[in-house]
Amino acid sequence: MSVTGGDDPLRVIMLGPPGAGKGTQSARIALAYGVPHIATGEIFRHNVSDGTELGQKAKSYMDDGELVPDDIVVAMIRQRLAEADVANGFVLDGFPRTVPQAQSLEELLADIDHPIEVVLRFAIDDDEVVRRISSRRTCVECGATYQAGVRPPKVDATCDRCGNEVVQRDDDTEAVVRHRLEVYHRQTEPLEFFYWQRGLLRDVEAIGTIDDVTERALKVLAEYEDPPLHEPAA
Ligand code: AP5
Repeated sequence: MSVTGGDDPLRVIMLGPPGAGKGTQSARIALAYGVPHIATGEIFRHNVSDGTELGQKAKSYMDDGELVPDDIVVAMIRQRLAEADVANGFVLDGFPRTVPQAQSLEELLADIDHPIEVVLRFAIDDDEVVRRISSRRTCVECGATYQAGVRPPKVDATCDRCGNEVVQRDDDTEAVVRHRLEVYHRQTEPLEFFYWQRGLLRDVEAIGTIDDVTERALKVLAEYEDPPLHEPAA
């Protein structure tokens, strides 16, 4: 399945500040297109909870709301993109986050002649981000998200999807979220120009219900190719 038509696989980057809904929408798009959802934040969190060397290196940066150094992230992504399941494409969530990361990705994909086809930019203002994230609760195992008071798990603190524990992420306190937003504006926003210059940037309004946003995102992708093979998740 391709965004551009033909036989090329779907290769999409999800760009937007913390809390824009990248993770939520990535999971739905990945399901709709039958491709893996690659979320660098999730990979780091799994490594932290498993106590790996990578997790130990990443943890302090994540807890402070800082970016993990480029060389660590790029090495991890290089390894992930070498796995067999990316043959039909992927949804990249949370990577790249700096211009050097984007340049490394471009080189990596040029080597295998499979460039990124589209970058979806999720637009949302900072106050809405803080509102969403401070009430977010996340499954420690599968990363499913809930919202305290609005969309809680059916059984208290237990994931509906996999039955594991649902908690508040260490970096989801208001102070850390505000710092993550500053980091986003300073280090990640320049990617908008980077991808605009390459003609790849497309806007998706991130306000409205989760279903509304999914519909908009799928519409943008459908403008480039055939309809998705599967219905998105409810
Ligand atoms: P990461 O896990 O990638 O965090 P993030 O980008 O800050 O994104 P979030 O997961 O906070 O938000 P999201 O946009 O996915 O929103 P979500 O769908 O959950 O990264 C964490 C850390 O890892 C970084 O700070 C950094 O340290 C490190 N890291 C990761 N990648 C890196 C890289 N490439 N380079 C360097 N360091 C890296 O939605 C948010 C909430 O809102 C949820 O509760 C959801 O249910 C709700 N929601 C979603 N959509 C809607 C809607 N339409 N209406 C109402 N609520 C909604």
